[in-house]
Amino acid sequence: HSTVQIQKGLAGVVADTTAISKVNPETNSLLYRGYPVQELAATQPFEAVAYLLWNGELPSDEQLAELRAEERRHRALADNVRAAIDLLPLSAHPMDEVRTAVSVIGASDVSGSGSVLDAAGSPEENLARSVRLYAALPAIVAYGQRRRRGEQLVEPRDDLDYAANFLWMTFGEEADAVVVDAFNRSMTLYAEHSFNASTFTARVITSTLSDLYSAVVGAIGALKGPLHGGANEAVMHIFDEIGEADKVVAWLDEALAEKRKIMGFGHRVYKRGDSRVPTMKAALDTLVEHYDRPDVAALYDALESEFVSRKGIYPNLDYPSGPAYNLIGFDTLTFTPLFIASRVTGWTAHVMEQTASNALIRPLSAYNGVDERHIDGYVPDAEAL
Ligand code: CMC
Repeated sequence: HSTVQIQKGLAGVVADTTAISKVNPETNSLLYRGYPVQELAATQPFEAVAYLLWNGELPSDEQLAELRAEERRHRALADNVRAAIDLLPLSAHPMDEVRTAVSVIGASDVSGSGSVLDAAGSPEENLARSVRLYAALPAIVAYGQRRRRGEQLVEPRDDLDYAANFLWMTFGEEADAVVVDAFNRSMTLYAEHSFNASTFTARVITSTLSDLYSAVVGAIGALKGPLHGGANEAVMHIFDEIGEADKVVAWLDEALAEKRKIMGFGHRVYKRGDSRVPTMKAALDTLVEHYDRPDVAALYDALESEFVSRKGIYPNLDYPSGPAYNLIGFDTLTFTPLFIASRVTGWTAHVMEQTASNALIRPLSAYNGVDERHIDGYVPDAEAL
């Protein structure tokens, strides 16, 4: 019998250092490059947060203008990406659609020698790729929702910043300032969270000296699951199932009796509440007021207080962001792709950090299968011995 200690799910394992973000469950805080995420959400456009994650510092006015110009240059949906999306069935999950689109973008980037020896790319190449990918994702996500609704593609608008243009391309109309602000905050809150499952996936792929696009495609696959990013979609299904605040108690009785996981609650790292929730809840409150939907707030509060009092498990970011995206008008299936559009900044920052001080990620396993055995009648080939 082996005496090695298995940390199931790598729980509690410190896998490497990172200078990108710091999660502190004791103080319930999350810092991006040293800045509390609440402060960034309240004061910065998402473009500046992306710059911060990639470069380590907030941009000067000039640096921000440069990033914005580059972002605008790569906003439009490329013809081959659109063609690839159009080949997919309308019933394809949008996460699969975005994963496919990123794969097409990666295969279309023929910079470098084309050999695997060159796949990892230089720091300059990877920063440029990160910016282009972050710039391209809103059009992919927006077009996906429009396609499913039978609507035409909306071209980007050069006079709008990232968040406003994202909403424009999705809905074909200019969003009100309060909506742009709530959406911008959500993008900042979703951008980065240390070694979560999708980011770790990206780092594992990067550690083999594979390319940045492969790392992002793998990360999207990890994000899709309802224990991770898929939870924001799953929260909305739960809201739809419950319907109204009065039905929370009966619904929860049944769900807990069936031992269901309540999506949008619980976290591997935070055990006393997710540091991002108060900021996103405040953004949700502004939307509830803007759209005059007190029923949404009532259902939100009822499920939260009932579940917390019964289980002592607190909401995570997906709990307020689900209903917020619903109020803005996103389809439920589009919620997790929005998470991709934001988290791609964190993923790519980690790809660059991993590349800069790489060690192949290759843990060990403790074998617990059947003992060694042999094929009946097998006689070793004398020549091969
Ligand atoms: N509903 C019901 N019970 C729960 C929940 C929940 N949401 N979360 C944890 N528990 C219970 C769990 O059943 C277990 O109970 P017991 O010890 O009796 O078996 C105990 O709490 C510990 O949970 P765990 O699943 O072993 O802990 P973990 O650290 O592996 O889980 C988690 C973290 C996020 C996977 C889990 O809380 C969960 O499944 N939550 C619902 C999905 C979700 O909202 N995910 C989003 C995560 S945060 C943001 C993101 O990545 O998008």
